[in-house]
Amino acid sequence: MDTLKFYDITHREHVVCNPTSEEKLARLVELLRLPNNAQVVDIACGKGEFLIRLAEAFGVRGMGIDISPFYIADARRRLKTRTSSAGITFTQMNGADFKPDEPHSLDLASCIGASWIFGGHANTLEALIGMVKPGGWVIVGEPYWRQEPSDGYLETSGITREDFGSHSSNAEAGEGRGMELVHTIVSSTDDWDRYEGLQWLATAEYARTHPDDPDLAEVNERVSKAKAAYLRWGRDTLGWAIYVFRSRSWT
Ligand SMILES: C[S@@+](CC[C@H](N)C(=O)[O-])C[C@H]1O[C@@H](n2cnc3c(N)ncnc32)[C@H](O)[C@@H]1O
Repeated sequence: MDTLKFYDITHREHVVCNPTSEEKLARLVELLRLPNNAQVVDIACGKGEFLIRLAEAFGVRGMGIDISPFYIADARRRLKTRTSSAGITFTQMNGADFKPDEPHSLDLASCIGASWIFGGHANTLEALIGMVKPGGWVIVGEPYWRQEPSDGYLETSGITREDFGSHSSNAEAGEGRGMELVHTIVSSTDDWDRYEGLQWLATAEYARTHPDDPDLAEVNERVSKAKAAYLRWGRDTLGWAIYVFRSRSWT
């Protein structure tokens, strides 16, 4: 089935499509203290919550980019009801194709939970660093191993050991590229339970209201498999953090 439809169905209950709680997202926004009219891009913006909050808090200008037509439509709807849409656009495109008008011209560039777009965490940092001004913010959300993954977890989930690093290696990847790690927002098991559990809830609700969808059996099967892997292994094995980097203003 269409992968984007699958994620639309399983994330219907989510505002934030990653394991960060809305309270922690609010804390992140508070920390940033962007100037009015700051220029930002959020690549893989999902339903646009981070960018909308930046617009509400600081009047930023910029773009949210996502490959999903479902999420982009949702983000546009939500923007209209939340804040003046002046200066904010949501565009459906492959994030890998985004280039700012000028390199090193943005105040903030983020990619929260989609580092595969650039071929992994290190390449994502490289791409975003190339977009921001000296002193600009680079914000990435990335899983990390809390413990060695078991073979059973890797086989069942389809994740490879190399897909992710440790919490410290995720941080070092930015510091080694001339950025300063100024904060992390780390998800708790409770945050993860909510992120995973909302997918189970959304899927059950979809099954109840769309019994004739020919994709339903596949959705149910994929979600059941992921739920079992999360409960058996993932809950203790995989972590998630948002890494807040700032480019050194003297470079
Ligand atoms: C885990 S979600 C994170 C969404 C959002 N950043 C958030 O935290 O709420 C991953 C997002 O990446 C988007 N995505 C996947 N591949 C993409 C690509 N090649 N270009 C742009 N967006 C992509 C998906 O549609 C989805 O919205």
